[in-house]
Amino acid sequence: MEGVTDWPARLWFGQTSAPEFMWTPFLRVTDTFPGRELPRFWCPELARGVLPAAKSGVIPQLMVTNADDFARVAEQVLTTGGHEWVDLNCGCPSPVVVGGRAGSALLQHPEELGEMLRAVTGRLGPGRVSVKVRTGFAAASEFPAILDVLGELPLRQVAVHGRTRPDRYLGRARYDLVEMAARRLDGIPVIGSGDICDFATAEVARQQTPGVSKWIIGRGALRNPWIFEELRSGNPVTIPLETILGAIECFAWLHELYWNDGERLVRLWGDGVFEASAGLDPDRWRRLLDQVAVRGAVPGRRACSRTKMIWNYFRRFCYPCIFSINRKIHSR
Ligand SMILES: Cc1cc2nc3c(=O)[nH]c(=O)nc-3n(C[C@H](O)[C@H](O)[C@H](O)COP(=O)(O)O)c2cc1C
Repeated sequence: MEGVTDWPARLWFGQTSAPEFMWTPFLRVTDTFPGRELPRFWCPELARGVLPAAKSGVIPQLMVTNADDFARVAEQVLTTGGHEWVDLNCGCPSPVVVGGRAGSALLQHPEELGEMLRAVTGRLGPGRVSVKVRTGFAAASEFPAILDVLGELPLRQVAVHGRTRPDRYLGRARYDLVEMAARRLDGIPVIGSGDICDFATAEVARQQTPGVSKWIIGRGALRNPWIFEELRSGNPVTIPLETILGAIECFAWLHELYWNDGERLVRLWGDGVFEASAGLDPDRWRRLLDQVAVRGAVPGRRACSRTKMIWNYFRRFCYPCIFSINRKIHSR
């Protein structure tokens, strides 16, 4: 998620409840950017293939407007550490992005999108490209034509956010359309996205979309960063207050290091500090904090403002009953 799942946040989610995969925020590609080297801290995991904490995988996502730029940068991503595939953002609704003919704008002309993907998959090989789409640029009636084009391509997977661009993030995600994608895209795994925020909502999605293999948790993971544990165990997690406080402080320090002392973060990472998840254990969070915090200092303004963003998601949904984050709270 743009502005959210940068490298320190991915390390942090590895510590809270380690999802199976995490997407990078999209990397906006132009004809000159990135140059010969990928931005160092956009996706350091590429050098290793997996995140250390509980072995979450990472999916590098690009935002492009044409096949040449896409193929050029995708080749860099695939050769740096031998990552298996690259994801294309066809979902971002932002007016700036759409004005630049990227993100969800690519859905406006499915044939042109198909041509671009055909050229790139032809160059990179089958299974080397995945896409993340919405259910239409202007309206959901466009979706069948988009699926017809995607179904002809050798894609690794297709992730479907069950909303159109005008929907942005409002209203209910259309699970019937996510299921339609799973039925029409024969042989291409479909990942669903939209509105999962706890075990109960995940069950609803599962029941309504039997053809869908996996789901992306977006805002639900900001509201409850331990959600992946909840989904694995099938039980609402109870988060001790000390864990919440330690985790929030760690979040701030990870960002402080990322922006102001990236080399130290790389060293800690190399030393295996993030190897095991801290989960719900306050002692583990305290130990992690001892390793990432600078004694006698406080995180700077930028790190604090990013921390405030995640805290605001978190607080709004969890504060009324901070010790027990459960279905009832999430369904409010
Ligand atoms: C702040 C924010 C940033 C996002 N950034 C991206 C992005 O960079 N790439 C992408 O494919 N989707 C992005 N999304 C969309 C989410 O991946 C997801 O599809 C959407 O939020 C619906 O799922 P949810 O209801 O679980 O949040 C973003 C969503 C939000 C709220």
